[in-house]
Amino acid sequence: MNFDFQSQDLAAAAQEKCDALLVLVPDGARVGRSPLDGLVAQAIKDGDLDTKGAKPLSAYRSGQVKADRLVLVGIAGGSAAQVRAAVASAMALVKSPKLKRLVVAFAAPAQEAALRAAVVAVADSSYVFTHTKSKPASRTITAVRLCAPESTVFAVQGRTDIQRRVEATVAGMELAKEWANRPANHATPTLLAKAARDLVKAAGSSRFSCEVLGPAQVAKLGMGAFMAVAQGSSEPLRFIVLRYNGAAKTAAPTVLVGKGITFDSGGISIKPSAEMDEMKFDMCGAASVLGTFKALTLLKPKINVVGLIPSCENLINGQAVKPGDVVTSMAGQTIEILNTDAEGRLILCDALTYAERFKPSAVVDVATLTGACVVALGSIRSGLFSPDDGLATSLLDASERAQDPVWRMPLDEEYAEGLKSNFADVANIAGRMAGSVTAAKFLQRFTEKFAWAHLDIAGTAWKSGPQKGATGRPVPTLVEFVCSRSESP
Ligand code: BES
Ligand code: MN
Ligand code: ZN
Repeated sequence: MNFDFQSQDLAAAAQEKCDALLVLVPDGARVGRSPLDGLVAQAIKDGDLDTKGAKPLSAYRSGQVKADRLVLVGIAGGSAAQVRAAVASAMALVKSPKLKRLVVAFAAPAQEAALRAAVVAVADSSYVFTHTKSKPASRTITAVRLCAPESTVFAVQGRTDIQRRVEATVAGMELAKEWANRPANHATPTLLAKAARDLVKAAGSSRFSCEVLGPAQVAKLGMGAFMAVAQGSSEPLRFIVLRYNGAAKTAAPTVLVGKGITFDSGGISIKPSAEMDEMKFDMCGAASVLGTFKALTLLKPKINVVGLIPSCENLINGQAVKPGDVVTSMAGQTIEILNTDAEGRLILCDALTYAERFKPSAVVDVATLTGACVVALGSIRSGLFSPDDGLATSLLDASERAQDPVWRMPLDEEYAEGLKSNFADVANIAGRMAGSVTAAKFLQRFTEKFAWAHLDIAGTAWKSGPQKGATGRPVPTLVEFVCSRSESP
């Protein structure tokens, strides 16, 4: 799917030959004199188009436009959320196997946030998962044109900048969605590692590289916590190391760590059966790191980035780790595994220790870590944990710009109290309260050597119910964050 941006008004948009034209109308839009402008004005006057609501008004082969199908939809104040909702409802009306060329026209000048929201909404509502369907109906849209009357956005930044950033973000989100949606038998740690290698190969640039470690190398490194999780499955673990060198060799890299549990049964502390299928999404952190690297291949910012993905299944065979087992992490800290379902922190702590060797300027881990985070923040905001105010602020800012919001959570030392163990340096669970915070406190023990932040995406990375599927979050935040750390060109 190709996106392009045109600085043009409704009169010009009406002349676009396309399968569908969506016209986004804000409150109080000053309409021009073209026939399409007249139609919009009349629809508002007659009360058939409510600029406040996201209820679209549609027509077939209307005389005012060259498009086969025309949809008018209100975007009220024109905020990102309003644009997203409006585009989604309009897209539902024009979705058809014949839809190839789409034009989305703003009736009034639009800010960058609104353009970005429109692109992401078009991509989102036209994404189709086909990998495991026998007769797939794949995406038909090939070209999308965004139009807005001459606006500050184009004048100040040049339309290619915006276009590149949002296109790369969408490509990253779609790669993340694709791998997250694949069932666990089609997305094993080995296949995830192959996806990482293929991504680097497709980039066709020596600035990208990928190294994959297997069980023997991980054992040699002493990653006892990671190995303990993997030992309950006959599917071998993989530790994926992605690198992007966009800056001087001496520049300290930003490290992204993604939880890559390709299926989380809970292990011997087994999960209930209902909705257990959704635990194929327990590698959404890993998928978001892959997605961010995909965006990097398109944007090539001046920064060094390392992606680390510990990946394995959390299953239950005769060798599976047992509640009460004590293992030794790569950092040398011993861990009493009181609950085998608290496995994410076990694979992440060894990846965090591995990150030390890069002398990073910052490390951000991304994980579907706790059900408690879903209880705390629902599916709106991801949880952000960081003892570093500067790093926290730059992630918060990036997430707002990216329309992929996060919320900062506390890390007071008192929260670590419950992690004490009589038999090891630390236990892998605390009490029932503040579960997302105690999980973060566990991880924090392994981050003394660098600036660190943790994103708990358990509530935001996928949707349940009839719309079940990955969201591609938090790729937009990560792309924005990484780009904000690059030297400006
Ligand atoms: N992958 C889960 C977290 C999760 C659960 C994400 C539900 C999204 C929806 C994680 O490995 C897990 O099982 N965490 C436990 C921790 C507990 C045992 C301390 C949880 O949240 O219940
Ligand atoms: Mn678990
Ligand atoms: Zn898990």
